[in-house]
Amino acid sequence: MASVLNFIPADYKQSINNGSITVSAPSNIALVKYWGKKEHQIPANPSLSFTLNHCKTITTLAFSKKDNADEFSFDLLFEGKPKEDFKPKIQKFFQRIEVYMPFLKTFHFTIDTQNTFPHSSGIASSASGMAALAVALMQIERQLNPEMDDKHFNQKASFLARLGSGSACRSIKGSAVIWGKHADFSESSDLYGVEFPFPIHEHFKNYQDTILLVDKGKKEVSSSVGHDLMHVHPFAEQRFSQAHHNLHHLSTVMQNGNLSDFVNIVESEALTLHAMMMTSMPYFVLMKPNTLEIINHIWKFRRDTGIPVCFTLDAGANVHVLYPENVSVEVLNFIKKDLVGYCENGQYICDLIGQGSKLIMNN
Ligand code: PMV
Repeated sequence: MASVLNFIPADYKQSINNGSITVSAPSNIALVKYWGKKEHQIPANPSLSFTLNHCKTITTLAFSKKDNADEFSFDLLFEGKPKEDFKPKIQKFFQRIEVYMPFLKTFHFTIDTQNTFPHSSGIASSASGMAALAVALMQIERQLNPEMDDKHFNQKASFLARLGSGSACRSIKGSAVIWGKHADFSESSDLYGVEFPFPIHEHFKNYQDTILLVDKGKKEVSSSVGHDLMHVHPFAEQRFSQAHHNLHHLSTVMQNGNLSDFVNIVESEALTLHAMMMTSMPYFVLMKPNTLEIINHIWKFRRDTGIPVCFTLDAGANVHVLYPENVSVEVLNFIKKDLVGYCENGQYICDLIGQGSKLIMNN
């Protein structure tokens, strides 16, 4: 069984003085939702996500050896400009991962990061941002230990990303990723995400995700507050066992391509996530009236046309519209005609299933 000890490195074989690494990591959208966690970012239930392709963070990590190794030292830039308010989160991340990356205090870092999606879109950048930083740090570790294999690289990148932001661990590798121990997947772990291990049906190839930006404001409830509320939630145990059950069914569906079952599982998961928020204490409604308008239109369109389009939601008001590639024309027409009016400033983002993080440059 995987243990955190697997991620504490042996002495490094090489030494390096400086360099610069650019990587990208995508956002991901959960189909079976992670909601509730234990200490050290251990999920209360397993989740499965599709990896996105266009919505991503691109991070350049420049590093140079420094004289003393007493403290962390880094500058943080967002789109090339200093971003002081992001620094505490990175400082905390470095503290959490230091034991697994003992070289951290020996370098000064400049972290320059940008997102391909608008900053105030309501799309969380923590998953892609933390995944990109974790992958960039792993590139440094690989230079220090060139014998590292890809499996360890990806597992540890995911392990580190998880310590930055839970769902970030699903943004490292693969088009569908499972995070959290589940009986059907022998390789699954609470410590990191793993690629969905079975062949995925053709119907899900290039699966489309059009993100309707209903409310671009800052999240009303941070996900950490939401996760914490599950500790005392009256329906928590039921929910956690439901997630196991839904993941089992979704696994079958992803292999047999039954889109009507897919729609049922995915929409039920989205509404259950919001139901958990509505029934916690304190309680929240994160959907907006326009979220519900969109949901009702999707249901009507599906009834009228038989096209297997469905929605999922994050912990916010935006709607992810999911559909197979072969109905893109019809669904995009429907979105433009009936749904765009419910988006803030008519904004939406067309994305599709992607493959995970990438190394762009290594100097
Ligand atoms: O990774 P966090 O702590 O921001 O939590 C993400 C939670 C959801 O997006 C609502 C669900 C999920 O599995 O991604």
